[in-house]
Amino acid sequence: MDISSLRERLAAHGQEHLLQFWDVLTEAQKKTLYNDLNELDLEEVLRFYKKTVSSLNEEQTKLDERMEPIPADMHGSVTRTPLEKIKDYEETGLREVSNGSVGVLLLAGGQGTRLGVDYPKGMYDVNLPSRKTLYQLQAERILRLQHLAKEKFGKCGEIPWYIMTSEHTKEPTMDFFARHSYFGLEKENLVVFEQGMLPCFTFDGRIILEAPHKLARAPDGNGGLYRALREKNVLEDMERRGIKYVHVYCVDNILVKMADPIFIGYCLSKGADCGAKVVEKAFPTEAVGVVCRVDGIYQVVEYSEITLKTAQKRNTDGRLTFSAGNICNHFFTTQFLKKVVYDYESSMMHHVAKKKIAHVTPEGRAHKPDKPNGIKMEKFVFDVFQFANTLAVWEVIREDEFAPLKNGDGAEKDTPTTCRHALFSLHHRYLLNAGGTLVDSEGEPLPLIPRPEDRVVPDSVSPAAAPKCPTTVNANTEFNNNDAQKEMRWDECPVVVEISPLVSYAGEGLDHLVANKKFTCPLSINPPAKKIDV
Ligand code: UD1
Repeated sequence: MDISSLRERLAAHGQEHLLQFWDVLTEAQKKTLYNDLNELDLEEVLRFYKKTVSSLNEEQTKLDERMEPIPADMHGSVTRTPLEKIKDYEETGLREVSNGSVGVLLLAGGQGTRLGVDYPKGMYDVNLPSRKTLYQLQAERILRLQHLAKEKFGKCGEIPWYIMTSEHTKEPTMDFFARHSYFGLEKENLVVFEQGMLPCFTFDGRIILEAPHKLARAPDGNGGLYRALREKNVLEDMERRGIKYVHVYCVDNILVKMADPIFIGYCLSKGADCGAKVVEKAFPTEAVGVVCRVDGIYQVVEYSEITLKTAQKRNTDGRLTFSAGNICNHFFTTQFLKKVVYDYESSMMHHVAKKKIAHVTPEGRAHKPDKPNGIKMEKFVFDVFQFANTLAVWEVIREDEFAPLKNGDGAEKDTPTTCRHALFSLHHRYLLNAGGTLVDSEGEPLPLIPRPEDRVVPDSVSPAAAPKCPTTVNANTEFNNNDAQKEMRWDECPVVVEISPLVSYAGEGLDHLVANKKFTCPLSINPPAKKIDV
């Protein structure tokens, strides 16, 4: 270990404090720190830091006046499009799936700090009757979509699933999939790769030490995707498989439609190289970014970057002018990704996030601050919209497609409970559309929107009063009660319907199972059990 030249290099960049504990480190710790510092491209990270911090003031210059909404002809909406057209989009998308031209890419490198779990969010189980995790729901939607495309076009295109993880989430994610036999997917169609990490800085530009021998580092944002696509040869993998279109999405949306053929078909019909699925903003101050143009360039503007007056602006028809709420669901052509990765990635700016960063005190003690003490630098996945030739926006119904898991139970919104209820409610609608009915113990149909008197506060429910024995509809039309689930309770919501993604991707294929039939809750609809030879 050439410690003196390392010391010199650090001193030249004002970072000599990183070796302040050197003399008291064990040999193993010295080795770790020495290797980490040698592998760090100090010039590059300091250049990022300076550029990011110097842009902080510029960004505030009157964004509001430079913003315009996405032109109406590029802002399609599921509620304003004739059904026939939607079917055309779907057919186009399914054809591409069956051709093997579509891949999905999951952004799963986040640290899930708001949810407060120490494992990847995709492994979270929101307590559905099946106890399926987010990863399993997503895997099964891929399987079902492949099946639908094959049914329609006779060819089974495989949808490779790219999962971007980070230092914290890679190993547990890989282990989890291996332990669950890839949920029925082909192992080689799952490509797990790791995004980069960047050191965290104090406000005056010094890299923070998390422990005497360890730098404080954080993933480089979900826009770290583009660098990782290059460095981990993921684009090459896509090209080798003949992938032309990629659906990129974030891990926490329990209703996410993997490789949604309607969205893909819509983007293709617009000749778009880049697409964003959005929901209509619920109210002016809702904390979501809006897809719009700034000085004619496509961008997502975060709610915190605009004034209330702009957020409240309305069109003559009364709709919010900036209504395209970003739900982190994007479409890219691989051609576009290639252009971004090789031509533009290095010019993309980082955003600054002021955070409470755990660090070591000068006395060598670990300390968790209670107010922000430094910054993390992150790129955002949508920062590439600025490079699009044609960006198409597709607005979907929030209740059908967007229920994110951000916070733990007890928070006001986006919790395991709200996710579970969103899924039950969607599946209840699938059931009704297919001609089935949910009834209460008196045989009365359950309303779509629970009546206040039906709601029961979980803690006050006695086990006797809670629904216990779920009706299970097997897709081979067997009706039975599942003993294993008898003791489970979903007592806080009167409507409990879970339809396996292996049976239905978006409400299709249910008629023959449920039409003209009545069911009580909890109801599970599953594919036929596989026969086991004994
Ligand atoms: C994100 C969107 C926001 C949108 C909201 C909807 C971005 C930057 N913001 O916000 O506009 O309204 O979703 O739910 O996309 N991730 C990584 N690596 C990282 C950081 C995050 O892969 O370094 C992944 C996370 O695992 C997650 C996704 O990116 O799947 C979104 O990250 P998150 O921090 O949850 O973004 P939000 O603030 O919720």
